[in-house]
Amino acid sequence: MDKPKAVRPKVVLGVSGGIAAYKACELLRRLTESGHDVRVVPTESALHFVGAATWSALSGHPVSTEVWSDVHEVPHVRIGQGADLVVVAPATADLLAKAAHGLADDLLTNTLLTARCPVVFAPAMHTEMWEHPATRENVATLRRRGAVVIEPAVGRLTGVDTGKGRLPDPAEIFEACRRVLARGAAEPDLTGRHVVVSAGGTREPLDPVRFLGNRSSGKQGYALARTAAARGARVTLIAANTGMPDPAGVDVVQVGTAVQLREAVLKAAPDADAVVMAAAVADFRPAAYASGKIKKKDGQEPDPIVLVRNPDILAEISADRARAGQVVVGFAAETDDVLANGRTKLRRKGCDLLVVNEVGERKTFGAEENEAVVLGADGSETTVPYGPKEALAETVWDLVVRRLG
Ligand SMILES: Cc1cc2nc3c(=O)[nH]c(=O)nc-3n(C[C@H](O)[C@H](O)[C@H](O)COP(=O)(O)O)c2cc1C
Repeated sequence: MDKPKAVRPKVVLGVSGGIAAYKACELLRRLTESGHDVRVVPTESALHFVGAATWSALSGHPVSTEVWSDVHEVPHVRIGQGADLVVVAPATADLLAKAAHGLADDLLTNTLLTARCPVVFAPAMHTEMWEHPATRENVATLRRRGAVVIEPAVGRLTGVDTGKGRLPDPAEIFEACRRVLARGAAEPDLTGRHVVVSAGGTREPLDPVRFLGNRSSGKQGYALARTAAARGARVTLIAANTGMPDPAGVDVVQVGTAVQLREAVLKAAPDADAVVMAAAVADFRPAAYASGKIKKKDGQEPDPIVLVRNPDILAEISADRARAGQVVVGFAAETDDVLANGRTKLRRKGCDLLVVNEVGERKTFGAEENEAVVLGADGSETTVPYGPKEALAETVWDLVVRRLG
């Protein structure tokens, strides 16, 4: 007997007329290669940027922009009805306006009205268009109705301009889609919450070319930011020296030193429901900064480096909760007596949860995987087995959500 064929999730990729339309080819490739059945529905304007032949060849489906082709199949209704996910990338200011107001003058806008599955918009436009009150209101309307509208990234725009409005990295949009698909119709449990996540490792400058740093890559913090955004949170990610692309749908604040990281956390924390301190913050910094490069002196031993303590940010925000009921999570990377040291650190810091992980070759710093025990101030212990950093991130948010009530 033939084995029944696995059902491939049906995804509609809407493409509207923005300069970033070419990046949707990469998103399409990622979706098809990971087993999704993708139907591309471009707008007429989108075809000025990437032609129908490309969409059709890459997706393996016919492509139309209007409702008057193959009318016997009623595509203006069927495509939306049959979809498990609709993602529009890039979503122009015009497309967002039409979607917010329920216009249906082409195949994509008809599809958006007939779809009952989750819908993700990845807007891309000039900063002025993104910040215009009309666009802000349209985005707010779409979010209120349950659509996921990914925050655009900051960076190079069309022409020579730079600012907010850039289409997030296709890999990031793909991750956001995967999570929304996995969640299905369930209401995201961090909707309406603001969370602050720190990631990466601080660098404490000695002179203009040298610093004291650590091995943290920021991958765990980025996984926390991505998963929180997918669960509906507004996310502020405070990133220290990670060099990674901004996760889709997240506000990113770049910092360098522990003092800068403290400032950014204290600024973002007052209206945060949860603060997760995944960054590796230097305990000490050089007492003095040499404004010129420190040179070797013939026949002389080098001057010792004198260190001073950095502020203990985790202890500070745990003690002065900026908001009643705020949940504070810390991280501890230990090399020995992992759990005993973790318990002591949890008490000393006063946070609600402490993610304790052992520094090892295939885990923690720079690795894609991790394993950890999450200690709770209430005495709880949650073991997270070796696996992707995102799995640990999901467990952290499960525990945070429980504490937020
Ligand atoms: C070169 C060029 C680049 C454009 N890039 C964008 C863009 O990134 N975002 C946007 O909202 N509109 C952009 N536009 C304007 C849209 O193409 C225009 O608003 C169009 O009506 C959108 O139609 P659609 O939403 O049906 O695709 C661009 C126009 C041109 C000529």
